[in-house]
Amino acid sequence: MNEFLLPEQIATAVNSIKNRTSKTPAVGLVLGSGLSGLADAIENADIIPYEEIEGWPTATVVGHGGKLVIGELEGKTVLTQQGRAHYYEGYPLKDIILAVRVMHALGIKTIIVTNAAGGINRGFTPGDLMLITDHINFPGLAGENPLRGPNDDAIGPRFVDLTETYDKELQQVARDAAKANGFTLQEGTYAFVGGPSFETPAELRFLHTIGADAVGMSTVPTVITARHAGMRVLGISSITNKAILNPVEGDEVSHEEVLETGKIIVPRLTALIRGVLAAI
Ligand code: HPA
Repeated sequence: MNEFLLPEQIATAVNSIKNRTSKTPAVGLVLGSGLSGLADAIENADIIPYEEIEGWPTATVVGHGGKLVIGELEGKTVLTQQGRAHYYEGYPLKDIILAVRVMHALGIKTIIVTNAAGGINRGFTPGDLMLITDHINFPGLAGENPLRGPNDDAIGPRFVDLTETYDKELQQVARDAAKANGFTLQEGTYAFVGGPSFETPAELRFLHTIGADAVGMSTVPTVITARHAGMRVLGISSITNKAILNPVEGDEVSHEEVLETGKIIVPRLTALIRGVLAAI
């Protein structure tokens, strides 16, 4: 087992996919917990279960689909990850970033990443969508960065600038799409934590103090890897639960709540992503 992702591993997965579809996707779409339903809107889909792609990590968590859905949405050819592998499942970061490396190798230049997140910002309500404008990479600050290891100069630079990680133009397109659909799009900073335990109230108060608006267990390794390759990134969090900073008797958060709220958000998320795809 190699500690870092090798070009051969990317090429092998790319070949598995090319053997199963003749489509040339232009946009990558990653669907988060409880958000798999969005893939049902994709037309003329070629569906590839993860088990059939050599070297691909399979998602083990309830609420994640576990297949690639490649087809058309709003006239754009999208490659959709219905379900993703998470760090907390035990996968090393090199497995988690395989998907985005493969998207890049397939010629995809724009990715839309979605996730379920806890709402730390006191102005957020479960059911809200949040445009990710910046992030805090907790495992990364402590050394677990997906780009750690040998750099492939053919893909991107050793030291990646993350001053403007989330594409400004795509952010505006998302704001416009939300407005056109008549709903409020919250905005803020997403904090990536390792999970799988939810955060303690003290940890949540800490995250609040340092400027996090939402917290979740995914997305950031993919985003950093995408930026390394020069891809444009749009990130959307669905706020599935209120982060409990100051608990009162009986307060708790559960994966079931995350999935239930996620399902309720799918129609609005679908409308938003349709609007974005139509405009880019
Ligand atoms: N914390 C971390 N990850 C999450 C949460 C949360 O409250 N909700 C959904 N994903």
